[in-house]
Amino acid sequence: MKRELHINLFVQSRGHHEASWRHPDASPYALSDIAYYRDVAQRAEAGLFDSIFLADTLALMDTVGHAASNWLEPITALGALAMTTERIGLIATASTTYTEPFNLARQFASLDHITGGRVGWNIVTSWLAPAARNFGGTSLVSHDERYERGEEFVQVAKALWDSWADDAVLDDRASGQYARADRIKPINHEGKYYRVAGPLNMPRGPQGRPVFVQAGSSETGRRFAARHAEAVFTAQMEKKTAQAFYADLKALVVAEGRAPDQALVLPGLSPVIASTEAEALRMARGMNDLTDPEVGRKRLSGRFGGHDFSHLPLDKPLAPEDFPDPGTVQAARSRTEVIVGLVKREKFTLRQLLAYLAGARGHFTTAGTPEQIADLIEDWFTDGAADGFNLMPPLLPSMLDVFVAEVIPLLQRRGLFRTAYTGRTLREHFGLARPATAF
Ligand SMILES: Cc1cc2nc3c(=O)[nH]c(=O)nc-3n(C[C@H](O)[C@H](O)[C@H](O)COP(=O)(O)O)c2cc1C
Repeated sequence: MKRELHINLFVQSRGHHEASWRHPDASPYALSDIAYYRDVAQRAEAGLFDSIFLADTLALMDTVGHAASNWLEPITALGALAMTTERIGLIATASTTYTEPFNLARQFASLDHITGGRVGWNIVTSWLAPAARNFGGTSLVSHDERYERGEEFVQVAKALWDSWADDAVLDDRASGQYARADRIKPINHEGKYYRVAGPLNMPRGPQGRPVFVQAGSSETGRRFAARHAEAVFTAQMEKKTAQAFYADLKALVVAEGRAPDQALVLPGLSPVIASTEAEALRMARGMNDLTDPEVGRKRLSGRFGGHDFSHLPLDKPLAPEDFPDPGTVQAARSRTEVIVGLVKREKFTLRQLLAYLAGARGHFTTAGTPEQIADLIEDWFTDGAADGFNLMPPLLPSMLDVFVAEVIPLLQRRGLFRTAYTGRTLREHFGLARPATAF
């Protein structure tokens, strides 16, 4: 079968650029207004995107004074988007560290029913240090423990989603038999972190279980992805590292006994698009002029688990020694490796580094014409760097609109992207198999 390009819209603030929220062209809606999310979801659906995705953190960012975030809890927001979209997949983030598998399994099974099989779960272990203090802890749960707990969590959730056979419900008014009890089984899980009897108190959803999305990039994170993820988000700043990540992840997937096309690799792409490259670069500079370096400094600190960067002058070239060793970071470890690598390569000052990260926090940013962006997408897609992209428009909705109006038709003309939805479920959009049960 012909390989198909996949595109997910990552919705964050009024765009991924740190200053998007205050840009004159940004959406007029409040970020706590569901109309905003409905609006961008419908625009992405008109562009035939596979899915949209809402990220989540479990603590208020300390940059709130000068930076905006998404305010709606993703699972709740997806319930509303389910009713105002028809075909596009809907992916919500939820943490394995700070909830119980039974709760999460019910929520996502409900969403799968409500959306007619369009839901995906971005499995995160929650790297943000202050989150722990909102759940009875005093410090961030260590990287290793978060993944160990995540592993058991996913095992339990899978067992719960598979605790009903697809044909368990008869709903037979004539005979009086509602369900076949022999087609619904407890799971009796007793592990290190969870004890769950099961079964789930709800029939299996249209997709069997939600599509598993994951974005860990450290060694532990990749092994987790290789075992479970059906779509993998990743931050790559150049094609070469994206190719290396792609090859490594697919090899790990095969080593786990899975088919490589059942784990899609979707790097982030944050393009500023205009009719000339010079105009696109001018627009990118205009957004950078709206950033506040102190917001960037706090964000950087958060990435490194709260490390203090306040003593570093803005205009002196940085050295790798100005950063903690990424191997010791308990927060978003792989992203810290990306940042330290960038400092070594580019010899940035702190101000330059923060301006660079303001674009899309370490994801691939670029500025160009629709043809240049389509060329880049085709090149990464056909040259072992991506199965598709996690599109991160710097500004919403305007830079999504230009992508849909100008880039999508080029990709369609080149035979790379769908010209109509052919499937109903997110699994069908992504070309993923529906999981079987033990029954
Ligand atoms: C596109 C993308 C989206 C992410 N979304 C979230 C999120 O919503 N919440 C969260 O806690 N972490 C999120 N992460 C962080 C990852 O789950 C992961 O912790 C991070 O990439 C570091 O990798 P590691 O856990 O293997 O060290 C995201 C990462 C990427 C690349």
